Amino acid sequence: MECLVTGGAGFLGSHLIERLLQDNHSVVCLDDFSTGTKRNLDNVKNQIKIVEGDIRDPNIIKETVRNIDYIFHLAAQISVNRSVREPRFDASVNIEGTINLLEAIANCSVKRFIYVSTGGAIYGEPTVIPASENTKELPISPYGISKLVGEKYLQWFHNIYGLLYTIIRPANIYGPRQDPLGEAGVISIFLGRIKNNEPIEIFGDGKDTRDYVYVKDITEICVRAMNSSHVGIFNAGTGKQTNLLELVNIIEHVTKLDVYKKFCNPRPGDVNHIALDSKKAYEKLGWKSTTDLTTGMNKTWDWFLSDQ
Ligand SMILES: NC(=O)c1ccc[n+]([C@@H]2O[C@H](COP(=O)([O-])OP(=O)(O)OC[C@H]3O[C@@H](n4cnc5c(N)ncnc54)[C@H](O)[C@@H]3O)[C@@H](O)[C@H]2O)c1
Repeated sequence: MECLVTGGAGFLGSHLIERLLQDNHSVVCLDDFSTGTKRNLDNVKNQIKIVEGDIRDPNIIKETVRNIDYIFHLAAQISVNRSVREPRFDASVNIEGTINLLEAIANCSVKRFIYVSTGGAIYGEPTVIPASENTKELPISPYGISKLVGEKYLQWFHNIYGLLYTIIRPANIYGPRQDPLGEAGVISIFLGRIKNNEPIEIFGDGKDTRDYVYVKDITEICVRAMNSSHVGIFNAGTGKQTNLLELVNIIEHVTKLDVYKKFCNPRPGDVNHIALDSKKAYEKLGWKSTTDLTTGMNKTWDWFLSDQ
């Protein structure tokens, strides 16, 4: 099948491309290389078509979606912090860019649109954790809002044009190739600083919790979504909350290094506690996360030691 991966030069996108190639699909990667890199595509660059372009440019998109069967839409402004500073920019990429894609394929023969949304930022501060897909979406950051609006447009295009879709709401993804100098991805940022003997910054008292899910588990749910006839929304997490202090303990255990912590003020837009109930993904797609945090952390640290 012909697959388009927007944001394919990014952290998750580059792993997803490898996974699609394993299943013998043809892949087109559309990316503006704003946070993604050519280096992320080193393993696969001879096997895929790379289109350098911005999802905010409707002309590039029209050209790129021709003859595509499956679209995996990952290109996004992904930093909560940046979305707080620059909500208009965040909306232009995450909302306008998504609409551009949807408009371009409204009357095409695309078999399914797989939209990687967010489970970590869409529910805000849910009263019941782990949060299921039935939890009310009450995002507290422009990033959470823009990803939710992208979902709503996708559902509108489904209602009007019959476009089949899967929305995946991942928890906090981590793993090799996540940018340690980026603004999202706390595990990668911490490991990058620890490797350089720099203190890590903890915003708040360290008791905030997240649900950390390994990148290969998320590529697996993307492929399962592609191969399923089910239309709908799926959380993708482990269901387990880990607070930052516990996370640092795991990092110290894995790296065998002492970690120097600097406590800073909490940041606006960051949620305090989240974990995702992914029972629906298990029931409908047969998916569950299979990589525990220590195993995934070891793989990520190995990559830091070998690659950086
Ligand atoms: N990393 C996480 O913890 C996490 C959690 C939940 C959901 N997600 C979602 O997963 C997707 C991938 O995130 P990631 O962590 O791989 O981030 P990333 O920044 O590594 O990847 C995003 C990619 O999109 C590209 N891009 C950005 N703006 C673009 C534009 N205007 N036009 C074309 N390409 C553009 C970037 O260059 C990059 O390659 C995003 O949609 C994000 O919202 C990520």
